[in-house]
Amino acid sequence: MTETTLILGPGALGRLLAAYLAYSDQQCTVALVGRQASSRPICLVTPEGETLSRLVPRITAEEAPRQPALMHLTTKAYAAEQALTELAEHIDPATPLVLWQNGFRVQEPLTRRWQGPVLCATTTEGAYTQGEAGAVHAGRGHTFIGHLDGAYPDLADSIAKMLGKAGLFAESCTDIRQRLWHKLAVNAAINPLVARYRIRNGQLRDRPFRLIVTGIIDELSLVMEAESIAPPEQGWAAMVWKVIEGTANNRASMLQDVLAGRPTERDAILGPLREAARRHDIVAPRLDALWDNSP
Ligand code: PAF
Repeated sequence: MTETTLILGPGALGRLLAAYLAYSDQQCTVALVGRQASSRPICLVTPEGETLSRLVPRITAEEAPRQPALMHLTTKAYAAEQALTELAEHIDPATPLVLWQNGFRVQEPLTRRWQGPVLCATTTEGAYTQGEAGAVHAGRGHTFIGHLDGAYPDLADSIAKMLGKAGLFAESCTDIRQRLWHKLAVNAAINPLVARYRIRNGQLRDRPFRLIVTGIIDELSLVMEAESIAPPEQGWAAMVWKVIEGTANNRASMLQDVLAGRPTERDAILGPLREAARRHDIVAPRLDALWDNSP
């Protein structure tokens, strides 16, 4: 019997997963759930410049199979709760769920609320949408998958293997909470600034941005220490500057949102950090300024 993997959220990441997973396993079909059904194939441009056309059913929540094998939630953070609530009316609440959101806003509440197993993913795959059904896989990255408390290691392992078989580098892990906070630090140091000034990531290396980023990293390190989040091996500053270097030519996701007139993930990225600062009585004027001036 074939099983269905649902991907809820037909943005860049959802299309990317759908296109890669679609033909990778004979036992498993993939369907992309969004507001509108469509029979147009997904066109994916790979990092090597190859264009793949993938016939993936694009369905609405009402058309979703009652008992999917697995569900990936790939909406933006601010849309995650609502999208899941709408789909939840139509599917088995015990369905395993993988959360792919940036920031640290939805992971904790959805892990506690959803009846089935919930895993979180953090990825450095770079992708953006092209037209109504296309996506460009701009840069290959790495994905980690795990449960916030380290539960369901076998499930995390099998999903990572499934992604690996489809051609995406993925690993299961037992420290996803820490990895999410590390990514949060990277996103907080890059996204609000590049979105506000409409610049590419690499421009943060130049004046006047370099000093601003350094100040933000200092504040972030204090908040992380107070939250008992272990620093990355190379330290916070080296981690952030390495990502800036490696993505110098990218338009960060928050800038893409601004340019497309979409809401941004300001709250999912800066909200948890500012709340943590307040919890620990840390004065964080730079994070506050990012919040006040973020689109
Ligand atoms: O949000 C993004 O675009 C990415 O997480 C990152 C790392 C900032 C690169 O652009």
